[in-house]
Amino acid sequence: MRVLAVDIGFGYTKATDGQQSQVFKSIVGEANTAQFGETLTPAQTTAPRQFSLAGEEIFVGELAENQSRGRSFTLDPAQFIAKYAKTLGLAALAPYAEHGDPVRLVTGLPISFYRKFKDPLTTLLQQRHVLTIVSPSGERVDKALYIEKVRVIPQPFGSLFNLMLNAQGRTLQQRFATEKIGVIDIGFRTADFTISDKTRYSERGSLSTDSGMSVAYSAIANLLQEKSGTQVELYRLYEAVTRGSIKIKGQKYELAAVVQQAFTQLAVRIAAEVNRLWADDWDIDTIVLTGGGGLTLAPYLAPLIQGEVLPVPADQDARLSNVMGYWKYGMHIWPA
Ligand SMILES: Nc1ncnc2c1ncn2[C@@H]1O[C@H](COP(=O)(O)OP(=O)(O)OP(=O)(O)O)[C@@H](O)[C@H]1O
Ligand SMILES: [Mg+2]
Repeated sequence: MRVLAVDIGFGYTKATDGQQSQVFKSIVGEANTAQFGETLTPAQTTAPRQFSLAGEEIFVGELAENQSRGRSFTLDPAQFIAKYAKTLGLAALAPYAEHGDPVRLVTGLPISFYRKFKDPLTTLLQQRHVLTIVSPSGERVDKALYIEKVRVIPQPFGSLFNLMLNAQGRTLQQRFATEKIGVIDIGFRTADFTISDKTRYSERGSLSTDSGMSVAYSAIANLLQEKSGTQVELYRLYEAVTRGSIKIKGQKYELAAVVQQAFTQLAVRIAAEVNRLWADDWDIDTIVLTGGGGLTLAPYLAPLIQGEVLPVPADQDARLSNVMGYWKYGMHIWPA
């Protein structure tokens, strides 16, 4: 029996089978007929990005971003789960499942959507799915994806399990199992805060807010709109922010100052949320900062948080921490 994990974020979809992993932007678009053949697909992408699912021909990820005419992207949670979670999840898992073989799946939801959407998400995924994988050359292969069991956990617990468990699902670092740990998971749309007290979930210390990286990106996009007259889609800003500049209609705009300002403002806002939420939990031993935004914001945020903040490992893509932990948790609850 195979254990797979998927983290369907508002920004990025992440999946792993414990050996390999992949990340792509959480964007779904209409597949256009590939009249230019292979040149449409970036050469470095080996995982499939074109599918036929429930009668629809779709692109996902960067291929949808760059090539689809009708592109969909939403920050609304109910719509996100109903419309995109299944498509993105199956697309991400497709390379890791053998045709028709049963797999068990661990996935997560943000703290605030956990109760409401845990069962609907389970129902949506725990099925026999049929999809067609379309290779860059146009070759079509049908695949039956049989997800026989689904476990949904609160998203930040993924990062905690990633630190706590080894690849066999056994406890590796005892301290994470015996201490009181605060987890701050900063994603694209949400900031999730949770406390694990000797691995027990603390309702009081847990909260989702809208303080994801998109807040900072919106501020940057608004400023760019004022200067250039063009509204840049938020999910197209990461590269520009990293580069420190963006070219719009031939004109280059420097971003370093506005980025610094937007990140500082977001960090101040998150620190205020955390310090308020955990005011009574002054006995937290360690605070774990995670999520892709956790890495980006760490230099701004760590100094503002009261407590010992564990540095984000720089050698690993912070966006993958949750999904890696989901997978280890799967190995823990479904030992081979
Ligand atoms: N290599 C990278 N490529 C893209 N974004 C990155 C990278 N490294 C860090 N980031 C940051 O990570 C953020 C996305 O983080 P993450 O994948 O954890 O969010 P998400 O899980 O999709 O969102 P949410 O948790 O709100 O659903 C981006 O907005 C960006 O600021
Ligand atoms: Mg996330």
